[in-house]
Amino acid sequence: MDLRGKRFMVVGGAGLIGSHTVDQLLNEDVGKVLIYDNFTRGREENLASALTDPRCSVYDVGGDILQTDILNAAMKDNAIDGVFHFAALWLLQCHEFPRSAFNTNVIGTFNVMEACVANKIERLVWSSSASVYGDAITEPMKEDHPYNNKNFYGATKIAGEAMMRSFHYRYGLDYVGLRYMNVYGPRQDYHGAYIAVIMKMLDAIDRGEAPIIMGDGSEAFDFVAVEDCAKANVCGMSSNVTDKFYNVGTGHRTTLKELAEKLLNLTGFNKEIQYVPRSQATLVKNRIGCPKKAKKEIGFTANIDLEEGLKRLIDWRASHESEVEARKRSVK
Ligand SMILES: NC(=O)c1ccc[n+]([C@@H]2O[C@H](COP(=O)([O-])OP(=O)(O)OC[C@H]3O[C@@H](n4cnc5c(N)ncnc54)[C@H](O)[C@@H]3O)[C@@H](O)[C@H]2O)c1
Repeated sequence: MDLRGKRFMVVGGAGLIGSHTVDQLLNEDVGKVLIYDNFTRGREENLASALTDPRCSVYDVGGDILQTDILNAAMKDNAIDGVFHFAALWLLQCHEFPRSAFNTNVIGTFNVMEACVANKIERLVWSSSASVYGDAITEPMKEDHPYNNKNFYGATKIAGEAMMRSFHYRYGLDYVGLRYMNVYGPRQDYHGAYIAVIMKMLDAIDRGEAPIIMGDGSEAFDFVAVEDCAKANVCGMSSNVTDKFYNVGTGHRTTLKELAEKLLNLTGFNKEIQYVPRSQATLVKNRIGCPKKAKKEIGFTANIDLEEGLKRLIDWRASHESEVEARKRSVK
């Protein structure tokens, strides 16, 4: 799709990957970027810079994908051409609350697809996940790696992939699904119950404690910067391929031990890493994605290396914390 002058709706656009995608879309010559989000996890502050652009707005009638009349009205009234769909409950939430996960990730995704068909949307770019693969049988994982998932989050993403394909054949819905590896970067949630491993390690360092690793630290992941994930979304929308799923990763393997060492190095903090027995919370291990198909077919390559990406994250945390502190002081 040629993005010039086109009008986009970003479902879940106030969250981590969605808000970065909004920023990158606004760097293109697009006509409109409408954010549709219920703000359960997304934050207005993620959109602070985007909303200074007159082409960008939040749909303020509502923003829940379970409210199908409002969802349809948002697409229809704004003459939307292309939709990005990021809204979902996250891995650990799905583990604890499978019924809610089913509603948001499966029924919600069905609602978005149905609204896309009803409103003759030209193209949908949807967030699947590397979780569909489960633990690696081969490494790096190519897109034809079997569905080896065992958790409910992955199950909702596998359901989404199957639904997308069926809507393509039944209604001609053109879509691309992106299977992100382990995403990190500025605006990542670091408060509350559902935070990712890098944030847990940085929290420990901030408290003056050693980072904790569950297991022996040999588990390896493909950490991909959120700005690169946003770029993959723009590539997916600009491309003409359809009915395809792509890995979004770097192809590089980093063990948790290497990750903790890098964080200690970058923060200049000197403490021995602490190893504790693995708990139930570790739902996936060893996941490295092969990046070749995305490069060849949608022209996406991740450019931010782990060191650079972690520096950006650490700087953002520091500036974000001081802003939050300043706001708290001015309220007192
Ligand atoms: N972050 C990762 O490591 C990762 C990895 C693989 C796949 N993904 C997938 O990528 C997508 C985006 O992930 P993220 O990290 O940006 O998540 P996020 O939680 O930061 O963003 C999701 C957004 O959707 C919104 N939302 C939730 N339920 C909604 C509903 N019912 N209606 C409307 N909006 C709703 C939230 O408020 C939030 O702004 C998700 O589908 C996720 O499953 C993320």
